[in-house]
Amino acid sequence: MSLKKEKIGIFGSGLIGGSWAMIFASVGYQVQIYDIIPEQIEKALKHIAAELKRLEKENLLRGTLTADQQIKCISGTTDINELVKNAVYIQECVPENIELKRKIYAQLDAILEDQTILASSTSTFLPSVLSENLKHKSQVVVAHPVNPPYYVPLIEVVPAPWTKPEIAQKTKELMLDVGQKPVLFTREIEGFAVNRVQYAILNEVWRLVASGVLSVRDIDSVMSDGLGMRYAFLGPLETTHLNAEGFTDYCERYSKTIFAVSQTFGETPKMEGPTVTEIAKQLEEMCSLDKLAERREWRDNCLTQLSQLKKKL
Ligand code: NAI
Repeated sequence: MSLKKEKIGIFGSGLIGGSWAMIFASVGYQVQIYDIIPEQIEKALKHIAAELKRLEKENLLRGTLTADQQIKCISGTTDINELVKNAVYIQECVPENIELKRKIYAQLDAILEDQTILASSTSTFLPSVLSENLKHKSQVVVAHPVNPPYYVPLIEVVPAPWTKPEIAQKTKELMLDVGQKPVLFTREIEGFAVNRVQYAILNEVWRLVASGVLSVRDIDSVMSDGLGMRYAFLGPLETTHLNAEGFTDYCERYSKTIFAVSQTFGETPKMEGPTVTEIAKQLEEMCSLDKLAERREWRDNCLTQLSQLKKKL
């Protein structure tokens, strides 16, 4: 694999910005990271270099370039004009705050070049809400990753109604080029897809615990020891296809039952009040608050091994 000439800008060098920098550098893009806090850029560059070295040592580095080659692909700047200049793509990664994001999009709009794609990492804001008043609004798209993006490849590519189709398409192609798995939305929708599905699951899990049917440990086991085992490899639709003689047969056999059970789901919970205290208590018995960092490290290690297994299969 050789180095690429194209420049990618990363706007905001926190958790997600740092991961994006590593992903783009893994295939040799020229990555420049920008942050409002100069020390944060230094910190991010040091952290990224140490991470890439560690990954190389553990044989987990993405791409075929060495860690040193990848580290050389990443630079920092405190000058927003320098970040924007000649960039083919800018990935915005500032905190999830609509006023802040809008302020930043207005700043970028004033200096954005016509060829640059401006993509947001936002988990919640529709691209139309981020871009509605911009001169360059047809160049804005959402490219939403799943944490930690270095190991979980899905990217939700979501256009606003005015995003040029070729901008969304090029974003998809870029994501494929860096080894992520993009899904391209035909239109924007609240929660995109990951959070819509995640919230449907959270709502039912909440109802089962709140009504005393299952404990926190047991309902989580339904996912991690049951459904989740399949979902790491197959989506829910292909799962049904295999669980009968094809999807049509599945619907003939089970659609009435699914409808009847779904009718018993009940109200959408608000996720407040004494059930919050009860779920938090049970979760803290499983993993106390001072052990969260350790447990996250364990999770990332599991995800690394799972992504290796998926590549092998
Ligand atoms: P973070 O707090 O780790 O990093 C944000 C960075 O933005 C910080 O380095 C901060 O100094 C910088 N920043 C703040 N104001 C700025 C400004 N005016 N100009 C330039 N830089 C500025 O946040 P994180 O977790 O990396 O999230 C970034 C985005 O990614 C958010 O939109 C979030 O919703 C999204 N996201 C986060 C995920 C997560 O699990 N953390 C997962 C998927 C998306």
